[in-house]
Amino acid sequence: MRQAGRYLPEYREIRQNVSSFLDLCYTPDLAAEVTVQPVRRFHPDAAILFSDILVVPDALGQSVKFSEGVGPQLEPVRSVDDLASLSAENTNIHLAPVFETVRQVKAQLPEDVALIGFAGAPWTVSTYMIEGGTSRDFAQTKAWARRDPEGFDRLLALLIAATSDYLIGQIEAGADALQLFDTWASAVPSDQFDRCVIAPTKAIIDNVRAAKPDTKFIGFPRGIGPAVAHYAANTGVNGVGIDSALAPVYAAKTLQPAYAVQGNLDPMALLVGGEPMLKSAAAIIEALSGGPFIFNLGHGVVPQTPPEHVEALADFIRSGDR
Ligand code: CP3
Repeated sequence: MRQAGRYLPEYREIRQNVSSFLDLCYTPDLAAEVTVQPVRRFHPDAAILFSDILVVPDALGQSVKFSEGVGPQLEPVRSVDDLASLSAENTNIHLAPVFETVRQVKAQLPEDVALIGFAGAPWTVSTYMIEGGTSRDFAQTKAWARRDPEGFDRLLALLIAATSDYLIGQIEAGADALQLFDTWASAVPSDQFDRCVIAPTKAIIDNVRAAKPDTKFIGFPRGIGPAVAHYAANTGVNGVGIDSALAPVYAAKTLQPAYAVQGNLDPMALLVGGEPMLKSAAAIIEALSGGPFIFNLGHGVVPQTPPEHVEALADFIRSGDR
């Protein structure tokens, strides 16, 4: 999630002094600093690398920009012809600054704080590449996947190759575990789910483990409801990040103890804070404490969130056995 996001004044201060968001991702000193900032304040058990899922299309050769108030903007790829300008050959050269960030973060973090590396899952990244940014209906992506399955599979293959290399690079640089964000998995029609979500995720996990056998993966297939069980059983993940719509009791029953569960406080509970937030957190802890469990939000911290609410939540979680 975007823990190092805009709700922290020390993040905004650094962000203000770089010309673009991608520059921040590719400047190891600064990216390492914003990765560590929330660890200093809240003392979590793990940090998440500061980067973005869209550095992979950038490394493939697509034009990617982040504009204030607009979000990501990409030069859309919509046909096999458009793929000709993309290459997965040397993406790790382009992404080398991110690996340097991982090394710097590992050197700065206390020994008992893990570093989670990450990438976007191919389906979710493909939606940004094809729609040209965030989408409401994913019409272009869904239409291409049906109209031209071979061409669309070529795009997925490029993403599988580049993402596997990227994640292997993060492990080599010192990341302790990896998370795959499939933020828009909920948009995939059920007859396409295995092809668009399960198979590419499994391919990446297999590729990474072929190079780095014991790598631990957390999958975040947002919004897929009870299909989380199918996802966990068929991708090779060790843990599943659940969004706020999934009942923690259901996740405990269907996923634990075979898989760790990560989740799933509603970011709006964190925004509002106070007793209601702590009550919601306590209910999640109670439901999931019987098995392997990582407390987290169900999605990213919203920019208006007071940092004091995060501090109160972290203190509450650490305050112990309840
Ligand atoms: O917590 C962290 O800071 C870790 C780094 C991280 C970022 N993005 C930094 C970021 C992570 C793990 C992500 C993942 C990411 N990026 C996802 C998957 C998770 C999710 O939120 O569903 C997605 C879909 C993206 C793509 C993306 N990046 C979008 C749509 C946006 C724009 C958001 C907006 O509201 O404008 C971003 C920008 C982004 N990535 C920011 C940060 C801190 C904010 C941009 C800024 O500070 O200027």
